[in-house]
Amino acid sequence: MNVESRTIFENDNLFVLRGLDSESVDLIYLDPPFNSNRNYEATIGSEAAGAAFKDTWTLSDVDNAWHGEIADREPTLYQAIHASKLTHGKSMKSYLIMMAVRLLEMKRVLKETGSIYLHCDPTASHYLKMLMDAVFSKDNFRNEIVWHYHMGASPKKDFRKKHDIIFRYSKSDNYHGVSITVPRRMDAKRFNKVDEEGRRYHVNGVGKRFYADVGRTPDDVWTYCDDKKLTQLNSMAKERVGYPTQKPLVLLERIINASSNQGDIILDPFCGCATTCVAAEKLSRQWIGIDLSSKAIELVRMRLEREVGMLGEVIHRTDIPQRSELLPNYRTHKHTLYGKQEGLCNGCGTQFPFRNMTVDHIVPQSHGGTDHGDNLQLLCGACNSTKGTGTQAELIVRLKEQGII
Ligand SMILES: C[S@@+](CC[C@H](N)C(=O)[O-])C[C@H]1O[C@@H](n2cnc3c(N)ncnc32)[C@H](O)[C@@H]1O
Ligand SMILES: [Zn+2]
Repeated sequence: MNVESRTIFENDNLFVLRGLDSESVDLIYLDPPFNSNRNYEATIGSEAAGAAFKDTWTLSDVDNAWHGEIADREPTLYQAIHASKLTHGKSMKSYLIMMAVRLLEMKRVLKETGSIYLHCDPTASHYLKMLMDAVFSKDNFRNEIVWHYHMGASPKKDFRKKHDIIFRYSKSDNYHGVSITVPRRMDAKRFNKVDEEGRRYHVNGVGKRFYADVGRTPDDVWTYCDDKKLTQLNSMAKERVGYPTQKPLVLLERIINASSNQGDIILDPFCGCATTCVAAEKLSRQWIGIDLSSKAIELVRMRLEREVGMLGEVIHRTDIPQRSELLPNYRTHKHTLYGKQEGLCNGCGTQFPFRNMTVDHIVPQSHGGTDHGDNLQLLCGACNSTKGTGTQAELIVRLKEQGII
């Protein structure tokens, strides 16, 4: 890994992720903005006051070249994202493009044995699942964890929304299996036998003994009903720093314990008030956090001092790390045009994969057209040959004659 443990980057995670060495991280947890259509601000007067982040998206928030990069690296991923525009609208498409370029980098930096936990909620979870399947492969989908908490609003006409979704994916088959257990629910009626040593057990259909005091792998529903600390932090919680969307330490401790060993490298690219970093430090893991907000670095220092008595060892960086490998160029005219046109052919208006698009001179070079970006467009193969050496206006007329548009 080309970055030291205990580093917080104050920067856009896309640039930092691009600068991290490939296959260098054991576990990624991310809790990105959810596309919830609201902007978060920390409570005034709290330790996190001044922290704010945006959670509304439009196409103007995404770099046009990202469309081309996604379509170039994972053609089906772009198609899945485009589908979200048809069913949900442009804001979802923009949000998913923002997420997809980053998830592609997260996959690259994850070790072959690594895991990734993506925390989201039903606002976008189904669309994010498609992204994860496309990036990590459906075969590496491990769990959809439902985190059931008790804070939240009480709508008048709907059921109360009391859960988040956490997707767990591995990078390959050779992954770190869940390595935690929780106590079995003690049910005196069920564990109705007692052995020579006084331990309670029950016998299943094939005669196997199950002991009440031996743990089992947790279910994929994690509820505060089993562990009171496993809920959204209320305003009185001791660990609360006032950061909007702060997650409880026990949640991160469970994830880190389940999917990593001591000494492993944990990365949180949307680290907020650095809950993941604090949990990783407590559990003797190495860690790296990234957040746009300058609050993360202040809060992680304060929390580490308060919770693990650690002083002054956190590295604060605002630059971008240097990778030794050569970076591919995803910023050509073609990539940018793909985004400008939102993946659609500029003739027939149909969505096409990146490789099926050709760069065309709007005013042909034979008529003095230049190579400048303003004179370039993407056409599908059919439209390109229909246009031939004609003008754009002629192409449109022909497409209309043929009933294509
Ligand atoms: C939902 S919060 C994370 C909360 C965190 N899990 C905690 O317990 O405090 C999302 C965070 O992502 C950060 N963020 C949003 N876009 C980002 C980007 N492109 N790069 C880095 N951080 C970003 C925001 O500043 C915000 O702190
Ligand atoms: Zn076309």
